[in-house]
Amino acid sequence: MIDSSTSSRVDLTDVDLFMEGRHHHVFSQLRANTPIYRNHAADGSAFWAITRYEDVLWAYREHTLFSSSRGAILGGSYRSDEDSAGGKMLVAMDLPRHRLLKQQLHRAFSTRVVDQVGKQVRILIDQAVERALAAGGCDFATDIATELPAGALMVLLGISHDQAHELIDLTRRMVGFRDETFVDVGGDERLRLAWLQAEIFEFFVDIVDQRRKNRQEDFVSTLLDAQINGRPLTDEEIFYNCMNLAVGGNETSSYTACSGLQALIEHPEELDRIQKDESLLGSAIEEILRWSSTNTYVQRVALRDIVRNGAEIKKGDSVTLWNISANRDDGQFESPHVFDVARTPNRHLSYGAGVHRCIGAPIAQTELSYIFRRIISTGRSFTLASAPRRLRSNFIMGTTHMPVEVI
Ligand code: HEM
Repeated sequence: MIDSSTSSRVDLTDVDLFMEGRHHHVFSQLRANTPIYRNHAADGSAFWAITRYEDVLWAYREHTLFSSSRGAILGGSYRSDEDSAGGKMLVAMDLPRHRLLKQQLHRAFSTRVVDQVGKQVRILIDQAVERALAAGGCDFATDIATELPAGALMVLLGISHDQAHELIDLTRRMVGFRDETFVDVGGDERLRLAWLQAEIFEFFVDIVDQRRKNRQEDFVSTLLDAQINGRPLTDEEIFYNCMNLAVGGNETSSYTACSGLQALIEHPEELDRIQKDESLLGSAIEEILRWSSTNTYVQRVALRDIVRNGAEIKKGDSVTLWNISANRDDGQFESPHVFDVARTPNRHLSYGAGVHRCIGAPIAQTELSYIFRRIISTGRSFTLASAPRRLRSNFIMGTTHMPVEVI
């Protein structure tokens, strides 16, 4: 139990808080007592944590007060204070360069591309679900959910199924850089991240080369044709943005699918409602996104001194916007800890908000709509065969293994 006097001891970089599911209690205490909280991390660094819905939304919208140049992930990772990605990849850029690049990248996420992703995802998910039905079960996390980003990557990058899975393995290692399931966790964390990033760049070398010679209608070709103030992107900017696409899209949608299935298994009455009335599928997907809050927070850096809710934020301070807390704020959501597939309105912040709002949201919506439609249409019952294994992270709420039985 924490209150206003003891909340100063909370450290949101303590991954165990999230692994053990204690974070929801901690966030409700912070929202009530210290909505903009000065977090002192074990490594000696400090940052502000914004936890109320209206403050998180305010910070997302105030992009002239809060810069993205330090990257979305807190320091101590591959995006340090001297962030090499700062200003180079979409998620770590500020206006006006951000707007100029995003406008051009939208082309790679057109309605036509989203439709093609839908078709590819459908083929892969149908095959994976059929295999699970025949076998009476599977590891949902590795056998089914990863087919969502695989389908998206095949279309967005024009690559094969095998290549897509190769890239998913690489980004999974990067996002799971603190998880022994994916990497050897010994040694220097920054070196490990630099190595993992280099592996992803390496993956893209041949693709960038090929598209340079022969443009396709894909994301890499769009990057090669993009210009900011009349200047094409540098090689470094191209590779960083390839990585941004892969890291942004691979883990988030598949992990959200896992959390969503787990929520439906744990709330059979809600699953029953969708099975009886498929028109609830749309609101169910929004509730799954709110409930999962897969991307727990994003980081910004204050561009000047700011006073709000008693907090005195100084220019240059790191500020974190906690989606996972905003999405359970009872000032915004009625009974926020109830999983309600018919919840309306449901203005969750799972895709962020403002200028950096997720560019891949329509792709994620297509992926999630299809996977849950397919699961429901089986008419079979999915149950957990053993406890799911969680990713060791306070940034991404992930499920690395989820053995299920299908009866
Ligand atoms: C359920 C799935 C997803 C979730 C929860 C999610 C979450 C987010 C969030 C919270 C942001 C805002 C970052 C910020 O404000 O700093 C973001 C941005 C971004 N996302 Fe997603 N995302 C998802 C799927 C995808 C997919 C499928 C792709 C690509 C195929 C993608 C690519 C990106 C990119 C490139 C950005 C940077 C946008 C910008 O800075 O303007 N995301 N995402």
